[in-house]
Amino acid sequence: MNIVALPVSTTEIAERMRLVRNTGREFLTGNSNFITAEEQATWFKDVLHSNHGITAYLFTFNDVDSAYGIVRTHGDKGLLTAVLIPGLRGRGIGRVIFELLIQVAKSNNLTPALDVLKSNTPAVKLYLKMGFRITAESDTTYDMELT
Ligand SMILES: CC(C)(COP(=O)(O)OP(=O)(O)OC[C@H]1O[C@@H](n2cnc3c(N)ncnc32)[C@H](O)[C@@H]1OP(=O)(O)O)[C@@H](O)C(=O)NCCC(=O)NCCS
Repeated sequence: MNIVALPVSTTEIAERMRLVRNTGREFLTGNSNFITAEEQATWFKDVLHSNHGITAYLFTFNDVDSAYGIVRTHGDKGLLTAVLIPGLRGRGIGRVIFELLIQVAKSNNLTPALDVLKSNTPAVKLYLKMGFRITAESDTTYDMELT
């Protein structure tokens, strides 16, 4: 599988990541529809300066921008998020991406963690298969950790 991980280190790659991210907004728990332009600008600045505890990658698959993934430091946890463009889902690529994000978190001594919409069956199934367990839940989301 020809997946390449590009660290999001330039404005150009950050913009490509934003376009990939927009293809999966409805699955993200931090509801991006309510993020102001100013908050988005701050978020991008943080992504581009890894000292803010955010590590981000844009993934290409056969040279096409296909996914992004993030590890965000939150206390002793590394909060993981990823979005794969719709046409490539269900082919094992998401698992490869999450395996990489888990390694990034662990190599920074962070416990891999995430939150996911309960309605997002593919993602919930993937995380349970990878060994995440549910640590908390709200009406709409699960908090999960890999310990
Ligand atoms: C979640 C996501 C990253 C998973 O990536 P993916 O490449 O589609 O998943 P994989 O092909 O690696 O599948 C891994 C496992 O997930 C489950 N899965 C994947 N697609 C599924 C589907 N449509 N229905 C049910 N389970 C599914 C299966 O258990 C699968 O394991 P299997 O291959 O042994 O059956 C991807 O679907 C995606 O980007 N979705 C939209 C954005 C999103 O939900 N991001 C996560 C926010 S928390």
